[in-house]
Amino acid sequence: MELMKVRNYGELSERVGEMVIEKVNALEKPVLGLATGSTPEGLYEYLINQYKAEKVSFEHVVTFNLDEYVGLEKEDINSYNYYMNEKLFKHIGIPAHQTYLPNGNALDLNEEAINYEKRIKQAGNIDLQILGLGLNGHIGFNEPGTPFTSRTHIVQLDESTRQANARFFISLDEVPTQAITMGIETIMESEQIVLLVSGEGKAGALKRVVNGEVSEEFPASILQKHNNVIIIADEAACKLL
Ligand code: F6R
Repeated sequence: MELMKVRNYGELSERVGEMVIEKVNALEKPVLGLATGSTPEGLYEYLINQYKAEKVSFEHVVTFNLDEYVGLEKEDINSYNYYMNEKLFKHIGIPAHQTYLPNGNALDLNEEAINYEKRIKQAGNIDLQILGLGLNGHIGFNEPGTPFTSRTHIVQLDESTRQANARFFISLDEVPTQAITMGIETIMESEQIVLLVSGEGKAGALKRVVNGEVSEEFPASILQKHNNVIIIADEAACKLL
C-alpha cells in the first residue's frame, strides 16, 4: 500500500484527477470503478473542468459504480444514479450506455447482483477503482462483518451508515435500510485501487486501514492485501499516523 499525503482536499482531488486522466488517455477501453458520497465530489469537478478544457475525452470509457440504494427511483435526488448524472456523467460526454450502476429497483435484486458481476467481467474487469472510506471501515456498502469473499450483493445498512448519510435526506426515516453493493472480492479484483480519505473525522479509520489488523470487522483493512493500492489522504486525515 502506498500512502500519498497531500495538504488539503483540493490537492487530493487534483492528484486523483490526474491519475484518472492518465489512465483514460493511456488505455483503449478503460474501465473505471466509481464511488459517490462527499469525498469524490472534487475529483468529479476536476474531471469536468479537464473535459471542458479538452484535455480528455470519455467517449471510450466504461464506468461501474460501487453501489446504489434499494427502493429509490433512478430520478430520486438521493439515488446514486441521480448523483452520478448530476455530478459527472451529463457534463463529460460519456455515452449513457457505458455507465453502469446496480439497479436498486430491480424486481429480483439477487438476479441483478449476478448480472452486475457479469457485466463487470464482460467489460474486462475494473482498471482503476476509486473508493471512499466509511467511518466504520466500510468500502462500497460492505459493512463490518461482510465476508472478504463477497461478490455483488444486497446489504442491510448499518445504523451508523444511515445516520452518516442522513445529511442528504430530509430525515433519518427517509434513508433506505438496504443497498446493493459490489462485494469485497469484486473490489479486490480491480487492477488498481485508489482510496480517498479527507478530514480529521476519518483519521481513526485511516489509522486502522494502514496499521490495523486485517479483519472482516473492519472491511477496508483488506486493502493491505492488494498489490496496487494508493491511499491519497490529506493532512487532517493523517493526524493519527
Ligand atoms: C459510496 C460508497 C461509500 C462512501 C463512504 C464514504 O459510493 O461506496 O463507501 O465512499 O461512505 O462517504 P463520504 O465520502 O461521504 O465520507
